[in-house]
Amino acid sequence: MQHADNWPLGHGPNAQRREFRWPQLLTADGKGIAYGGDYNPDQWPESVWDDDIRLMKKAHVNVVALGIFSWDKLQPTEYEWDFTWLDTIIDKLGSNGISVDLASMTATAPMWLYEKYPEVLPVEANGDVINAGSRQSWSAESPIFKRFALEVCKRLAERYKDNPYVTAWHIGNEYGWNQRHDYSKNSEDAFRRWCKRKYGTIDALNEAWGTAFWSQHLNSFSEVLVPRHMGADSMVNPAQQLDYERFGSDSIKEFYKAERDMIESICPDKPITTNFMVSTDQCVMDYADWSDEVDFVSNDHYFTAGRTHVDELACSDSLVSGFANGRPWYLMEHSTSAVQWKPLNARKRHGEMTRDALEHVALGADAICFFQWRQSRSGAETFHSAMVPHAGEDSKLFREVCELGATLEALSKAGVQGSEVMAGDTAILFDADCEWMTRCETLPSMQLNHFHAVRDWYYAFLDAGARADVVPLRGDWSAYRTIVMPTMVNISEQAARRVREFVCAGGRVIIDYATGLMDENFHAALGGYPGMLRDIAGVRSEEVVILGEADGEPDALQLDSGATVRLWANDVTSVGEGAQVLARYVGPEAQDMELDDVPAIVQHPFGEGVSWYIGCDLSVEAKAKFLCEHVTGQPQEAPSIIHTVRGDEHATYHFYLARDKKAHTITFEGEPVVAFRARTDANSAQLERSGMLVTKIARK
Ligand code: GLA
Ligand code: GLA
Repeated sequence: MQHADNWPLGHGPNAQRREFRWPQLLTADGKGIAYGGDYNPDQWPESVWDDDIRLMKKAHVNVVALGIFSWDKLQPTEYEWDFTWLDTIIDKLGSNGISVDLASMTATAPMWLYEKYPEVLPVEANGDVINAGSRQSWSAESPIFKRFALEVCKRLAERYKDNPYVTAWHIGNEYGWNQRHDYSKNSEDAFRRWCKRKYGTIDALNEAWGTAFWSQHLNSFSEVLVPRHMGADSMVNPAQQLDYERFGSDSIKEFYKAERDMIESICPDKPITTNFMVSTDQCVMDYADWSDEVDFVSNDHYFTAGRTHVDELACSDSLVSGFANGRPWYLMEHSTSAVQWKPLNARKRHGEMTRDALEHVALGADAICFFQWRQSRSGAETFHSAMVPHAGEDSKLFREVCELGATLEALSKAGVQGSEVMAGDTAILFDADCEWMTRCETLPSMQLNHFHAVRDWYYAFLDAGARADVVPLRGDWSAYRTIVMPTMVNISEQAARRVREFVCAGGRVIIDYATGLMDENFHAALGGYPGMLRDIAGVRSEEVVILGEADGEPDALQLDSGATVRLWANDVTSVGEGAQVLARYVGPEAQDMELDDVPAIVQHPFGEGVSWYIGCDLSVEAKAKFLCEHVTGQPQEAPSIIHTVRGDEHATYHFYLARDKKAHTITFEGEPVVAFRARTDANSAQLERSGMLVTKIARK
């Protein structure tokens, strides 16, 4: 694994970004790793609250996210407000050393508001109005809803601005999850304004959207529509859809900013965040953009059961760290064990909760919080695990929650909080635009998925013994040695220029299949694929060959390197000067598809740097083999271990954990700070299943 000189990561130039501000704890110096969870005391009788505090202290909890869904309790009717319960609980928490990350409480609105003002509800693509009663059942473009929401923010800020126990603001909750696509009239009007701001003239929009197709020419912005459902087999204009996705992210971001600004205008001293939703199956908003608008980045992550549990977590966290510009970030939610919203909800084995929590710290988290403190007794999330389970205090799970609290305290004492994750030498690029675009239904294959491609490259690097970072395309990746462009179907001229400059200056780029098919407006590359990257890749591909399930057609191809290809192969018809073909299609299937001997993987010197073009969908295993043979060199360290390093001016901290379910013997550097399910000798350690070792090396 490379621990390059480019440490700490990033902090790229970004004039718009708010200053990094991290919430204080109520410890003597305000420092330490935050530990706690969403706390919903309003779901319980007051008689339970003192027991909550007792158990929180026992578990070393030092923060809670309070009142996320409590609007109805605060404002029981349009003209009544009740802060007494909130005053009481904040006081109980704070006087016991537990700080409060106070919610703006606008994630769910009270039922009276919907009853009286049904126009605040969002509308679905087919015109159905979404019903009240779940989360975010409101339109970010509803002026009435905004007025009510800002009133709540104002009153909360006025009441708690000087409260020493409230140390951060938690605006909304998982914005966009439920109302990401709103087809209401208000939203359509806002979309028209957004388009006008973006394009200036209707001619520019017509050109960008390619409205010459299917008689879609627009005479003025008042004719712009949101891409509603148009009947069973109809297809949306993909450029319009992409703008609608961008608009959705902007629209809800503006709503968030209005809440934030209302609170900040009254209470400027407390740091503000909103929790993102990044895991490799979802990236709801354009978080690279949103990250500029928070004081500290926070995220909710839910585990993927199975073989990739540890790897998936690392990949997601790496992107969160990228959004945070390498600064520490806040794990606002994860689960102590099972969730309740999947068809089958696997629990965590005992030990996996601690291992996961410490892995988040290893990837840059300085706060470890759960949804939620006490497992609900009723409601939709009754069977979602929590810190205090249904079984109560006398349970394996609660004992582990207490142990984890003590472990995090040990890490706090060792000084981990505030240190930053050391960058690797490879950046796998992520872009929300590409993620949205690969969900489009009119590409050569609907099985493309940008984030999954990012993830698969991430796994391949781990398998090659070389952990990569996941970095937003919009961020600063110029200091990396290698970048990867996984299924980046649509890239802008500006992005192509940055890649060209990077490679010219000596950088190395892996250009994956399906990358560079079109520009940011869904205008196809003319003259051959991969479009604007053709000169860098040193290839020209004329066609895309999709391998499917049709009877009598091959569903896979073989390469002369031994790899198997599925789904996608570019028909590369020429390679540039100096290019070296590293693998070709061979065998009867390739012959059948008229691809025999066609270049599949091509290495090409460009400027001072080099590119590798991967014209086909390789398995993770084949990707790893390619990396070892051509990019990273054979692994120096065991690929079954993840080893990350955090550091600051005082020390470096090394985190070691296993990717699989097995026990491992590892060698380590430094003084052990935490040995969870691990035994250490002089400089080797035995990690049991789910074991984790953290060591410290003081800087001289
Ligand atoms: C139909 C339509 C054409 C075109 C094709 C595409 O036949 O008439 O306009 O959309 O499908 O397969
Ligand atoms: C989300 C929400 C929480 C809770 C969890 C359950 O992250 O923010 O309120 O519903 O999911 O996993």
